[in-house]
Amino acid sequence: MIKLPGLIDPHVHMREPGGEHKEDWQSGTRAALAGGFTLVLAMPNTKPPVVDSASFNAVLKLAESKALCDFALFAGAGPDAANLPALAERTAGLKMYLDQTYGPLRLDEMDLWMPHFASWPLNRPLAIHAESRTLAAAVLFAALFDRPVHICHVSKREEILVIKAARERGIPVTCEVTPHHLFLTQEDIPRMGGGFAEVRPVLASRADQQALWDNLDVIDCFASDHAPHTMEEKKGENPPPGFPGLETSLPLLLTAVANRMLTIDDIVQRCYTNPLRIFNLPAQPDTWIEVDTKAKWEIRAAAMQSRCSWTPFEGYPVQGRLERVVLRGKEVFRDGKVLAQPGYGRNIRERSQG
Ligand code: NCD
Ligand code: ZN
Ligand code: ZN
Repeated sequence: MIKLPGLIDPHVHMREPGGEHKEDWQSGTRAALAGGFTLVLAMPNTKPPVVDSASFNAVLKLAESKALCDFALFAGAGPDAANLPALAERTAGLKMYLDQTYGPLRLDEMDLWMPHFASWPLNRPLAIHAESRTLAAAVLFAALFDRPVHICHVSKREEILVIKAARERGIPVTCEVTPHHLFLTQEDIPRMGGGFAEVRPVLASRADQQALWDNLDVIDCFASDHAPHTMEEKKGENPPPGFPGLETSLPLLLTAVANRMLTIDDIVQRCYTNPLRIFNLPAQPDTWIEVDTKAKWEIRAAAMQSRCSWTPFEGYPVQGRLERVVLRGKEVFRDGKVLAQPGYGRNIRERSQG
């Protein structure tokens, strides 16, 4: 049994409001605790999206009454940047969607990016969905505006190499990689079946996957990009992109430790130390998780807390099991059971203005 800090997931989609049939603040934060995450940063592509103080306050109210784990909310960058900076202190950061994604928050023209880069405060990160050449443009913007950017869900060799080169030249770029891009490739698509394999960024080639493992030192964070959609939606006509990930991330990463592809310290750096620094988060007092690194089991969606009730890793043999979670001095998960009550989760931006 080993003890680790409460993990931080800097990229989750809670779906409430507007997508409660996929997930809501209660089911999503139950899934977080059952996955070893005591703090989640929630994305703004809800219905309606979080793009101003009215929509931000509405989601905050829901989250405060329902969340079981701690959280902060991203604001989303829309075409109008004027009123967002006033909200910044209360947010996890600003999310910018610059490529194809789920939801309405895509900014195509670079002239729409500029006011956000110019006016968003430096103590709150810019988290960016940008792939391939768009990612190179986002890196250029980090240099032009001389401000840190965090690149979400990096999946390709060309992307990790551009980030590496940018950092070697002192451009302030950090990045995250999802477990699904570390453990799945496009070769898994036939087995997964059409809509169930749909995700953005798409599952990449073996060479892309290998480049992520070869450049582990360039990867600052592991992020689940927990993006639940129901089985009916994934089976249907226009399957929305996204995988649930909160409850499979830690067991997959621990399995990589058992297989000597990662160390426990690699996990702690990327699921705690680096997200804490990059997103300027307060440490959670008296908070930790306990893990049995020897336990072998199989991933089963039926045993999960997420409402979406499927996983791309169904039946995967894993080694390493979460046994216990303590959040701010209270036992909130033990032996497969979530013990916290809705409303126990705190908005970590509430008091700290750090
Ligand atoms: C995400 C979603 O469903 O909200 N989908 C996905 O495939 N990753 C959107 C996103 O993270 O771009
Ligand atoms: Zn994205
Ligand atoms: Zn996402």
